[in-house]
Amino acid sequence: MLEIKSIDAYYGETKVLWNISLNVRQGELLAIIGPNGAGKTTIMCTIMGLLAPKRGTILFERKNQEARTLSGGESQMLAIARALMSKPKLLLLDEPSLGLAPNLVTSLFQTIKKLNKHGLTIIIVEQHVSQVLEAADRSYLLENGSIILEDTGSKMLSNPHVKKAYLGL
Ligand SMILES: Nc1ncnc2c1ncn2[C@@H]1O[C@H](COP(=O)(O)OP(=O)(O)OP(=O)(O)O)[C@@H](O)[C@H]1O
Ligand SMILES: [Mg+2]
Repeated sequence: MLEIKSIDAYYGETKVLWNISLNVRQGELLAIIGPNGAGKTTIMCTIMGLLAPKRGTILFERKNQEARTLSGGESQMLAIARALMSKPKLLLLDEPSLGLAPNLVTSLFQTIKKLNKHGLTIIIVEQHVSQVLEAADRSYLLENGSIILEDTGSKMLSNPHVKKAYLGL
């Protein structure tokens, strides 16, 4: 339902996204993981049209039904509920667990999985790597503005580089 092809994005003269291609299919729960400053939020901004890519294309099936995004904060559940009132076709979640107590993080992930099971297509950026990969159908690993891995959530979880760099295993 959303397809990004070979985009480069800049803040002024600074290039932060390098040849990014990604897609999300109808009904999928897609995770984007990666370290601080990798460009995860910048991808979300380009999807929302807040930042215009210098190169490449972004195709979104229904232009008049906007994707909805959320930033971190303390009232993520309420924010998600509000976003859902607009009946989005695609829900964009940028670190929805930020600042939540661990037990709330667990129930947040349960809610996200439930929404997806009910048919909502979701792209989620998360620092809780193991939890998000357990939930995700598919995932991308972004490092320094480039996608370096794409795989199912479970295969990404067992990838040696991911285990070492992001799961401390
Ligand atoms: N408004 C901005 N102006 C200039 N540079 C920016 C701006 N926002 C982000 N950057 C830079 O772009 C790069 C990607 O930032 P981005 O916020 O997309 O990373 P991120 O993966 O979301 O990181 P985090 O995990 O910390 O949220 C970083 O080098 C960052 O310093
Ligand atoms: Mg970010």
